[in-house]
Amino acid sequence: MKKQFLNLCVGAALLAPALATAQKTLQVAVNAPKGEIQPTMWGVFFEDINMGADGGIYAELVKNRSFEFFRPMMGWSIKGKGVKEGDLLIQNRIEEKPSNPRYLQATVRNAAKGDVGLTNEGFKGMGIKSGLRYDFSVMYRQQAPGVKLHVELTDSTGKAIGSTVVNLPNAGEEWHKATGSLTATATEAKGRMNLWLEGTGRVDLDMVSLFPTDTWKGRPGGMRADMIQLLADMKPGFVRFPGGCIVEGYDLSQRYQWKKTIGPLEDRQLVINRWNFEFAHRPSPDYFQTFGLGFFEYFQLSEDIGAEPLPILNCGMACQFNTAEVVPLDELDPYVQDALDLIEFANGDVQTKWGAVRAQMGHPAPFNLKYLGIGNENWGPQYLDRLKIFTKAVKDKYPNIQLITSSGTDPNGDRFDLLNTELRKMNADIIDEHYYRPPGWFLQNARRYDNYPRNGSKVFAGEYAAQTDRIASPNNKNSWKAAIAEAAFMTGLERNADVVTMASYAPLFAHSEGWQWTPDMIWVDNLRAYGTPNYYVQKLYSLNKGNKIIPVTLGNETVAGQDSLFASAAVDTKTNELILKLVNASEQAQDVTMNLQGVKKLAAQGKLTVMQSSDLDLVNTLNNPQALAPKESTIAVKGKAVKLNAQPYSFNVVRIKM
Ligand code: AHR
Repeated sequence: MKKQFLNLCVGAALLAPALATAQKTLQVAVNAPKGEIQPTMWGVFFEDINMGADGGIYAELVKNRSFEFFRPMMGWSIKGKGVKEGDLLIQNRIEEKPSNPRYLQATVRNAAKGDVGLTNEGFKGMGIKSGLRYDFSVMYRQQAPGVKLHVELTDSTGKAIGSTVVNLPNAGEEWHKATGSLTATATEAKGRMNLWLEGTGRVDLDMVSLFPTDTWKGRPGGMRADMIQLLADMKPGFVRFPGGCIVEGYDLSQRYQWKKTIGPLEDRQLVINRWNFEFAHRPSPDYFQTFGLGFFEYFQLSEDIGAEPLPILNCGMACQFNTAEVVPLDELDPYVQDALDLIEFANGDVQTKWGAVRAQMGHPAPFNLKYLGIGNENWGPQYLDRLKIFTKAVKDKYPNIQLITSSGTDPNGDRFDLLNTELRKMNADIIDEHYYRPPGWFLQNARRYDNYPRNGSKVFAGEYAAQTDRIASPNNKNSWKAAIAEAAFMTGLERNADVVTMASYAPLFAHSEGWQWTPDMIWVDNLRAYGTPNYYVQKLYSLNKGNKIIPVTLGNETVAGQDSLFASAAVDTKTNELILKLVNASEQAQDVTMNLQGVKKLAAQGKLTVMQSSDLDLVNTLNNPQALAPKESTIAVKGKAVKLNAQPYSFNVVRIKM
């Protein structure tokens, strides 16, 4: 058994001696359920990292649409021979509008199309689809009408693949919105948008925007449907948002502040994304958070896909790997108030201040928020001091809200021990544990929760992923080696679902050209998206969840590594099905008989879903997105037993109607 582990741990050549071929017989105590599995058990963790939001699920195609990036013309280049010094100026009205101070002022004289213009390069280009309509919009103001805009999409060579003319009819001191639509004549992953000015006059331009119309649910200004569909297909129990370290910020001024992410887009104050500069080896100088995907859109998305929202808020501490700033305890009130106000924004009656804001944004019904995280990966007594203040304030006003509390960055060590002890003394609702560890750790820790206290605080496995290289190494791969180790570990989560009530892989999305962190569950380019083997493991657990834990034993022990086998089982009492999960993490096929104890009648055959490859380095790619994906077949049920020939390095899910 040890040698089999070792193979996966170190990724060495597969040298393990042949396993004893003896048949393994597992006892599945269908008649003795051990506890409940919550509907929230398997969820997703979203953070704006790796171009997850801007350039990712937020479908805006124009980069730096409001000229607010650190370099105001980043993403834009000036075009045309008619441009003279001073014709295109970045104006800054910081006193008047601190949330969106900059705009572009253009002066043109008898300009024809092609004389004066700008090109926007998009996020690593713009993904353009032939035949699809694109909606353009811009905020503008001018003293007198005299200028119109030509909006033109081009392919990577500069050839036009769609255009429209947008008139700017209004004049005066006020800002107005102009819109136009165009249909693309070709598909292009590296498209660009030209904006030509025609006529005579001076015009101010801001919030220059282009959206595809095939967004999720067809919402104007919405999200990329292919990416959201991959999430919806998982039927996740919850969506953790917005992070991650994003919550904390490099310093407190850069922390995530939900109130700045709602309301009109032009009022949502942009901040530099902390992943812009976090890793010297993966610099992302054009990575900012525009908050087009803000807290309203997040709640709406959770509702769309039937998941519980699980927001994480800043607890008055900046990232402890960065500045580690803390807000003095006597100045914590605004942070606490943000938490109380978020609950009101989500759940409050439309007569309340924040409930009214939600209604005004188009959702009078409450979002029914039940969970709230205080702090991300925060640690030390300074965290406990702040958490206690939050806990009192939230519980006094909203006793039914379940609070998620941090156990730090690691699943063991002094920091973890301090918080785990103190949080349990405080009777914390749910403790958030994170593990970014090698595949071998996941195999060796499949029993981690078998001896956790059954009463008191529950656990949220809030961020985890097997790392095939060191943490944050760009060489980490979403290989089968990592995914099968996670599948094995997750049998331990399912077996202990009375203690671990929620779990989510992290991070969720990565753009193939814009990532900072790997591994990630779903990879995309501007036109395509695919699930990794890790995605399919998560999806199989989520779609085969059940609601009662069924004990599975080999000899008298839980099945957590004997001969590299890992197993768990559940019953879905709504569909009356038994669900068995078996991981064979060895290099040899193993015959496994599962005796189903205490069942009266079973269907003669069940559904078998298998992920298998003997190539532990196998990954999915944009060009081969299903190199490793689940395959379905049937399996015979003989009397009260299921015999499974578990293939080498396989994850098997069996569903049987009872
Ligand atoms: O998932 C990437 C990062 O890993 C998260 O932002 C942070 O919480 C963890 O350290």
